[in-house]
Amino acid sequence: MTEATHSSDSPLVCVTGGAGFIGSHTVDRLISEGCRVVVLDDFSTGKRENLAQWKGDDRLEVVAVDIADGLFAPLAAVTRRRGPVSRIVHLAAQTAVTRSIINPLFDVRVNYAGTVQVLEYARATGVTKVVFASSAAVYGDVDQLPVRETVDTRPVSPYGIDKRASELMLHYYTAVHGVATTALRFFNVYGPRQDPSSPYSGVISIFADRAMAGRELVIFGDGEQTRDFIYVGDIVRAITRAVLTNAGDDAVMNLGTGQETSVNELARVVVELCGGASSISHAPARAGEILRSVAAIDRARELLGPDYPVSETALADGLASTLDWVRSTR
Ligand code: NAD
Ligand code: UD1
Repeated sequence: MTEATHSSDSPLVCVTGGAGFIGSHTVDRLISEGCRVVVLDDFSTGKRENLAQWKGDDRLEVVAVDIADGLFAPLAAVTRRRGPVSRIVHLAAQTAVTRSIINPLFDVRVNYAGTVQVLEYARATGVTKVVFASSAAVYGDVDQLPVRETVDTRPVSPYGIDKRASELMLHYYTAVHGVATTALRFFNVYGPRQDPSSPYSGVISIFADRAMAGRELVIFGDGEQTRDFIYVGDIVRAITRAVLTNAGDDAVMNLGTGQETSVNELARVVVELCGGASSISHAPARAGEILRSVAAIDRARELLGPDYPVSETALADGLASTLDWVRSTR
C-alpha cells in the first residue's frame, strides 16, 4: 500500500466498460482532470490496449469482471486499498441493437440487470453520483424531429427498452434512496478507438475501415435512414461534467449535434475522404431500425452550462481525426 493509493484528495471514479471505445476516452479525461480511476470491464468488446497509455500509472486500476455478477466483490479489495468509490460512470453494455433482437435475455442481463447492480452498489456504499450511458434508441420512431426529451419514448428494440428501463431505475434510486444520477442519451458516437471488427460495430468505424482499404461499403436498406453523429471528445466532456458536478442531477438529456446525416451521405463522404476507390452496395434493411434520428440539444446546453458546449466538432473534422487514427493503426 502506497501513499498514492490512499490519497483521498482526488476522487476515486469507477468507470464500467472503461476499456471500451467511449470508456477509455472517459478514463483519459478523468485522470487528466485529477481523478483516480478504477475500471470494471469483462473485455468482451473492450481492449487492454485502449488503456495502454496508463500502464504502470498508479492512478488507474483495472479489474476484469462481468458487472452483471455485481460490483461488491470486485471492488472490495480496491476500496480497502484506495478508499471508497465516490462516483461511477456506467458505460458497460452490449451495444448492438441487432444483437439485442437476436438475444433479448442477454441484453436484459447485461444492460438492465447490470445497471441495477451498479445502482445497488451506489446505494449501499454512499456513492455521490452515477452517470449512465443511455441512448437515442429509447425513442423509437418519433414524428417530431429534432427529438426532445419530453416526447413519449417508444423503443423498438430490446436494447432501447433496456436503456429506458435503466433510466427509470436511475430515477427510482434518486427519488427513493437519494442517489444522485444522470442519464445521458447518446446519439451515434464515433471517433478513434471505435472497433470495426464486428458486423454489429458502429457504422462509421466499419465504413472508415473498409474505405481505407478500398473495400466495398454495404448500406442496409435504401440508405435514406438518418443518424446524428457526435464525436467522442464531445461526449466525454459532457460525461466528465455530469459525473464530477451536480449538473444534470435526476435528469435525462440528449447528447447529439442537432445535425441529421443519411447513411448514403455518410458513405459518400467517407469514400471521398479515402480517395474514392470503394464501391457502395445495398443489402436488406435491418429489423428494429430507427428511420430518422436527430437530437434537440437545448436541454443539454442548459444543464451543462455555457462553458461546456454540447458539440463543437464538425462531422468533417471528426471524420478526419477518425481516419487519421485508422491510418495510424495499420
Ligand atoms: P464498447 O463496446 O466499446 O464499450 C462497452 C464496454 O463494456 C466494453 O469495454 C466491453 O468490454 C464492456 N462490457 C460489455 N459487457 C460487459 C459486462 N457484462 N461486464 C463488464 N464489462 C462489459 O461500446 P461504446 O460505444 O464505448 O459504448 C459505451 C456505452 O455507450 C454503452 O453503454 C452503449 O450502450 C452506450 N452508447 C453508445 C453509443 C455509440 O454510438 N457508440 C450510442 C449510445 C449509447
Ligand atoms: C448506435 C449504437 C448504439 C446506440 C445508438 C444510438 C453501436 C454499435 N450502436 O446504434 O449503441 O445506442 O447508435 O443512436 O455503436 N449501417 C449500414 N452499413 C453498415 C453498418 C451500419 O448501412 O455496415 C447502417 C445501419 O443499418 C443503421 C446506421 O448505419 O441504419 C447506423 O448503424 P449503427 O452504427 O449500427 O448504429 P445504430 O443501430 O444507430
